[in-house]
Amino acid sequence: MLSKPEYARLSLEAHLFFARIMKEHSFFIETALTAKYKNNKEKARFFMLKFDRLLAEALAVSAGAIGPDAGAADEIVTPHTLNAELSSSFFTGIPVNTEITQREIAFTRNIKMTFLPKIEEKVYVINQNAIILTAALVNYKKKLLIDVLASRVYLSMYPSLLIHMIEEAKQYIGILQMLQKYENPNEYCGILEQERFWNDIMYEHMEYVRGSLDPIGCEMLETCDTLAREFRINAQRAKSDEAQEIFEDEFAKRSLDLLRETKDFMGKWTEELLKSKIQALVLPIVADHTFREANHYYRLLRAFEKMK
Ligand SMILES: [Fe+2]
Ligand SMILES: [Fe+2]
Repeated sequence: MLSKPEYARLSLEAHLFFARIMKEHSFFIETALTAKYKNNKEKARFFMLKFDRLLAEALAVSAGAIGPDAGAADEIVTPHTLNAELSSSFFTGIPVNTEITQREIAFTRNIKMTFLPKIEEKVYVINQNAIILTAALVNYKKKLLIDVLASRVYLSMYPSLLIHMIEEAKQYIGILQMLQKYENPNEYCGILEQERFWNDIMYEHMEYVRGSLDPIGCEMLETCDTLAREFRINAQRAKSDEAQEIFEDEFAKRSLDLLRETKDFMGKWTEELLKSKIQALVLPIVADHTFREANHYYRLLRAFEKMK
């Protein structure tokens, strides 16, 4: 059973990471739809604005309540997020609320944990609203996937990426549902589940990065292949019968090394995209998004190591 400060901390850390992720998924979908699909584009924009508001609500009560590790992990914002947003907004003509990004940057620079007990009720309401909103986003993504697979809608995005984004939304909901029962999603049996989940996600990211690169003359293709292969091996081992033992020892160590390499790669990829040093069919905010997801998993994995 979680204490009140732990409940508030874990909830707000989840929102500051995942609400932005959900907001950006909505942005990715809007940009991937052609002008013909006006209704679907409007719905995507609706979710983007809703998650913006959720993020602002979570941020407004986060001062003093979240841990320094989450603030320092480059998972809420990275040094590239603001530029990536500005340039993605410039390329698409879609306005992005960068004011909240600036507030987050200021917030992550000055994190001190001084839990104020009064926020517990506010956090409870934010969590409930987030579950309802994210469930609605899952339904929207699922319906869009059905339409894409039936060739009723053209989306310049791999269908498996839509599934990937549905899984991330479900992960957010699952974590919040545990928190609403004052259960800790980072306790022993939850750790293996999260490692399995994020290993698959990292594997898929490497494939998507590879799939977005200009196949002619790009030096990064080989690195993507190598990292994807490593994550696929890890993902298979994490799902095997002996996963519990592997999880205890060298598997975790190897995961940490691999992830360190991956997050460095993602950071470099984002930076070079922003400087136009890499040619890829991807908006800079997509790169920064995958960088943040790698940073988030890296922080979780390091915390899990200490708990074992
Ligand atoms: Fe994502
Ligand atoms: Fe992802």
